[in-house]
Amino acid sequence: MIKIAPSILAADPLNLERETRRMMEAGCDWLHVDVMDAHFVPNMAFSPDTVRRLKEVSTVPLDVHLMMDNPEKYLDLFLDAGADCLTIHAEIEGDLSAMLREIRRRGGMAGLALKPGTGIWTAERLIPETDLLLVMTVEPGFGGQPLNRSMLRKISTLREMGYRGEIEADGGIREDNLQDLIDAGLSVAVMGTGLYRSEDPAAMMARLHAMG
Ligand code: DX5
Ligand code: ZN
Repeated sequence: MIKIAPSILAADPLNLERETRRMMEAGCDWLHVDVMDAHFVPNMAFSPDTVRRLKEVSTVPLDVHLMMDNPEKYLDLFLDAGADCLTIHAEIEGDLSAMLREIRRRGGMAGLALKPGTGIWTAERLIPETDLLLVMTVEPGFGGQPLNRSMLRKISTLREMGYRGEIEADGGIREDNLQDLIDAGLSVAVMGTGLYRSEDPAAMMARLHAMG
C-alpha cells in the first residue's frame, strides 16, 4: 500500500505539534521533514532541533530530506536527533557513497534525491547503496508547485531497472495525480499543501491509501 508522508514545510509553523498530531491521527505513514540551507536551494527550513522535538511526539518514522550542500558534517546530528530516513541530493559535491554508508552504518535508511533535471544515469553507481530514491517532482525549495509529470517516466524506469527499494516522489502530489504515480511504481508520496489544505485529511488519506 502506498505510504503517505506529509511534508511539514506546509504546516503552520506556530502549531507544529498540533499539525503533526493531526496528520498522525489522520493515518499518515511517515513525516517528511524538509531541511534547506539557503545555498543548495534558495530557501531555509528546519534543523536537527526540529527533528529532535518531533521525535518526542511522533509515532511514525521521520523522513528527513537534506536540501543542503556539505551534509556530511550534519548526518550524525540528524541521526542522533532521530531521523529514520536521511536523504541527500545526488547533485552535491563530496563522497556521496561514504555518506550513504554512514547513514546505513548508524541504522538509518539511506536516501538519494534526484532533482527533475538529474538523470538516473548520474546516480546509477550509488543506487546499490540506497534504501530509498527520492524522485523530485518539482524543483526543490518550495511547496505548492505543480507536479512535473515527465518524472513519471523516471519512476517507471527505475522499476524497469529492477530497483526494489522505496521510490518516493516529492512536490505537487495531489489526489488527482497520485494514481498515475502509483501505477508508475511509486511507494512513498510526500504531500504538503495537498494534504495540509484539506478540510478532512483523514478522509483524504483513506482515499489515497485505497489507490494501491
Ligand atoms: C520542496 C519540498 C517538498 C514540498 C512538497 O522542496 O521538498 O517536500 O514541501 O510540498 P507540496 O506537496 O506542497 O508540493
Ligand atoms: Zn522534501
